[in-house]
Amino acid sequence: MLILGIETSCDETAAAVVEDGQKIVSNVVASSVKFHKKSGGIIPEVAAREQVKCTIPVIDEAIENCKLKIENLDALAVTIGPGLIGSLLVGVETAKALALVWQKPIIPVNHLLAHFYAAWLDNSRERAANSVWKKTTGKKLRATRYPDFPLVGLIASGGHTELVLMKNHGNYQWLGGTRDDAAGECFDKTARILGLGYPGGPAIEKATAEKSNIKNLACRQARQKPKIELPRPMINQRNFDFSFSGLKTAVLKIAKEKNLHTPNPIPHTLVPDLASSIQEAITDVLVEKTLRAAQKFKVKSVIVAGGVAANKRLKEKFQSAISYQLPATHLFIPSPRLCTDNAAMIAACALFNFHPVPWQKIQANPTLSL
Ligand code: KG4
Ligand code: ZN
Repeated sequence: MLILGIETSCDETAAAVVEDGQKIVSNVVASSVKFHKKSGGIIPEVAAREQVKCTIPVIDEAIENCKLKIENLDALAVTIGPGLIGSLLVGVETAKALALVWQKPIIPVNHLLAHFYAAWLDNSRERAANSVWKKTTGKKLRATRYPDFPLVGLIASGGHTELVLMKNHGNYQWLGGTRDDAAGECFDKTARILGLGYPGGPAIEKATAEKSNIKNLACRQARQKPKIELPRPMINQRNFDFSFSGLKTAVLKIAKEKNLHTPNPIPHTLVPDLASSIQEAITDVLVEKTLRAAQKFKVKSVIVAGGVAANKRLKEKFQSAISYQLPATHLFIPSPRLCTDNAAMIAACALFNFHPVPWQKIQANPTLSL
């Protein structure tokens, strides 16, 4: 079964061909991030205009890369939501037109659910939990190629932080989500406060790595700074909800006190320390709540997906927490290029969950939920 996936829910324009929901045959992603860097965040109108220009070339490239003939495609799959309405419309209307012209079935896909399906794709299998366990105990865990049900999935992206219990394909229960800012949004907004640029997650990760360089330069001032304590919102509450806006406010307060905030950010040894504290606070909350859900529902696998799952510190913490606290549970964190938005996950999710519908009935839905 060969499915062409199309994804345009945010600032990426992506097309991919996936075989049997698991094998990536081709995967093309174009991003308009360079335009958004200038403005420090996504301007929906700019993203949609870029997508109008590049959707057809990206689809062409995805098909050319695998030297496929259109006749070989079995179906099209397209993200219908949630996302930015202008961006969604470009992908949805293009996919509908192609389905009509090529006379192919078309499958509407929920972008949030699709993030989990990056874990079913090639080269996204995460065996590191196994190797950490082996290193510490000398024993080898049962290797697993694909996530086993029941599983708990965490989506941590720019617009969403959601915990989901999946009992099977198409059978899932929403456990909780953010009450205000998403985890990625918190990275983006706090990075902006510190003048670190957009997107914030990779910028904060980089600034944190620089922390060790500062120390190597024998900057005594940096070494003497006490570790900056930031709140870990809702970490002790027994529910599966999140809240990150208080953390952002706490960072803003410190930045103002220390005169680190934009528009006049000054290079300061405190910035890497603060970046590191932000990363620690966000990742602590994500790991703690996900593990609590995994324990409660006695799951066999945990999937961590969405752009924030590309964060190395988050991965380290999940690997170590799962190998010590839930050694029989398998951890799946897709490779970074499959954590961020892509169309391979859309094609995979379509195969396992959704059915074709007449193209006339497909509509973009910016507020679609799980
Ligand atoms: O899943 P995604 O590509 O798009 C959405 O569906 O939102 O996620 C984008 C988010 C951004 O907030 C970005 O700052 C964050 O993922 N992100 C990261 C990293 N890479 C991307 N956050 C932390 N560490 C990273 N390495
Ligand atoms: Zn996404």
